[in-house]
Amino acid sequence: MTLLNWSSYFALGIDQIDDQHKKLIEMLNDMYDGIKSGHAEDVLKVVLDRLLKYTKSHFLAEEKYMMEIGYPGFDDHFKRHYELTSQVEELVQKYSSGEHVNYLEVVTFLRDWLQVHIMEEDMQIAKYAVSKEARML
Ligand SMILES: [Fe+2]
Repeated sequence: MTLLNWSSYFALGIDQIDDQHKKLIEMLNDMYDGIKSGHAEDVLKVVLDRLLKYTKSHFLAEEKYMMEIGYPGFDDHFKRHYELTSQVEELVQKYSSGEHVNYLEVVTFLRDWLQVHIMEEDMQIAKYAVSKEARML
């Protein structure tokens, strides 16, 4: 069973960003699989760190894209990225210092965040890009 499945509802129509979102969902499902099969500690150590690095480079790509198209909601979106990065960094730190981490809570938090962020916040970027393109025709 997967935690989150890619669906067309997630598609922004921006290939590079869509591919990165697919990869994030895949990483999240890998984490979930590992937890379900009793390898939570190994999985968290490896995947959480990888996920954090990947998320950071993905956010940079999104921010570059927002700048390219002159997205007016850039500042708020950038803030949301910063907030999530800080939350995940906090988790990694908590985990690395040996503090108890509820694994399922971690993956469900990431799933909910990713789902809402893509479908509500990232979708606004796509809508703006489409309307801008239409205005230029
Ligand atoms: Fe975003």
